[in-house]
Amino acid sequence: MERLPASWYAAILIRKSRRTFHPRRPEEDKIVRLEKLCATFQPFPGARAELVRKTPDEVFKGLIGGYGRITGASYYMAFIGAQDAPNVEAAVGYTGEGLVLEATVLGLGTCWVSGFFRPDAVRSHVDLGPGERVFAVTPVGYAERRYTIKDKIYRGLAGSAKRKSVGEIVEGILAESWQEKAVEAARLAPSAANRQPWRFAAGPGSLTVRTDGAKDVGRYPKRLDCGIAMLHAEVGAREAGVAGHWTFLPAPDVARFEIET
Ligand SMILES: Cc1cc2nc3c(=O)[nH]c(=O)nc-3n(C[C@H](O)[C@H](O)[C@H](O)COP(=O)(O)O)c2cc1C
Repeated sequence: MERLPASWYAAILIRKSRRTFHPRRPEEDKIVRLEKLCATFQPFPGARAELVRKTPDEVFKGLIGGYGRITGASYYMAFIGAQDAPNVEAAVGYTGEGLVLEATVLGLGTCWVSGFFRPDAVRSHVDLGPGERVFAVTPVGYAERRYTIKDKIYRGLAGSAKRKSVGEIVEGILAESWQEKAVEAARLAPSAANRQPWRFAAGPGSLTVRTDGAKDVGRYPKRLDCGIAMLHAEVGAREAGVAGHWTFLPAPDVARFEIET
């Protein structure tokens, strides 16, 4: 895939994590479309997604301490990375979010889960190559039309509706209009516990993403969240008519987007 699909911008504006699903199965053509995208959308080496034609209920079963129990989805996707690949966390975040946005375009519900799932259950469904690990999963299916009380509690606990202001996440000023569009799209990205650990710094024709510098906690790497925000930023830039490419950078920076002139 050369350019990101224009339809992903509208998906950014409406996507929300969904945790309770309806028994109705997604149509076969939608699932085939996601399977094909899993096979083709691999923009960085060492990161890929796989659609699993099984309910993820087993993947979430019996876990204590996880937040946001997820129930009833028809299928799920596994977001996989080669453990030793450079920048694997950001690459998995970027790649997985592409699949999440495409599922949103298709009217399907999703919810990133990177901590509390059973890797052993996923491994029994997915063939992993040498050195590969499952970094996260998402259910895929039709979400219940209304939020259940459980959903509202989890959304409330994570403060899911709240996003940091542009001033809180940008160092300096955004002098170019595409940069504003990119940061606005990145602000809407999902992140573990909605912590929004991304920070942005703009230069002439460029936008650098870094983490907020605080240490990672447990199984929730901030560079994965930042990879998700990178994809959103690029979709925002595209919406503003700008294309470019990413270069990964050493921590605490994550990557720099430079526009094509
Ligand atoms: C990497 C990652 C891991 C997440 N892990 C969980 C999880 O374990 N359980 C859960 O209910 N939600 C999880 N979420 C969803 C976040 O809570 C959610 O994205 C955030 O609160 C913002 O809400 P929104 O996605 O509806 O915009 C995760 C999100 C990301 C990006």
